[in-house]
Amino acid sequence: MARSGRLRVGVLASGRGSNLQAIIDASEAGKLDAVVVVVLSDQPDVYALDRARRHRILGVFVDPKTHASREAFDKALIAALTEHQVELVCLAGYMRVLTSAFIDHFRHRVMNIHPALLPSFPGLHGQRQALRHGVKFSGCTVHFADEGVDTGPIIIQAVVPVFDDDSEETLAARILRYEHQIYPRAIQLYAEGRLHVRGRQVSCRGSEADRAPREGWGYIHP
Ligand code: GRF
Repeated sequence: MARSGRLRVGVLASGRGSNLQAIIDASEAGKLDAVVVVVLSDQPDVYALDRARRHRILGVFVDPKTHASREAFDKALIAALTEHQVELVCLAGYMRVLTSAFIDHFRHRVMNIHPALLPSFPGLHGQRQALRHGVKFSGCTVHFADEGVDTGPIIIQAVVPVFDDDSEETLAARILRYEHQIYPRAIQLYAEGRLHVRGRQVSCRGSEADRAPREGWGYIHP
């Protein structure tokens, strides 16, 4: 069914918010049928909240310490997102594991981005794990969040090479460029109603041309 109006996105972030920025920029440039209506953070004074406010988007610190449990905290998040009629929740460097009540409430309506090719290297420091393991390619993954840590159905991945002289920083920077491309892309596919989840598999309805690897979310020879 066709949507009326732009998809209302709520972003959860705990840090610098460069992915948030990429989503805002794509939205403001008219490349997304989506608009960020609220940014929630579990940390005060983070750059992600500044970025939101600079774009006249409501940025709210929700203090975990004022809630008795993880469940109570997530309930407060759900209330805030619902108040702003959020249709899709995007985790962008959000450092807390969501409760199953939150995931249930927004089933297949929560996306996350991870700096590795899942299911390899979930959890913290995906880039460091990839370097230590010695893989020759890594990348990033946008997936729907489920109850696990970085385990949900995969929507889009981008692959980047890993070089012998890479440090965690150089690899992270190479991956981040692609994060900023595939996250808005995944949101746009969702906004167009083209993503279909069956079990672990996410298929994208569309033309063959849309399905082909494209510059920005495939391996580009250096
Ligand atoms: C990104 O590398 C993302 O993949 C991971 O956390 C980092 C957040 O960066 N989940 P930013 O806050 O979006 O700049």
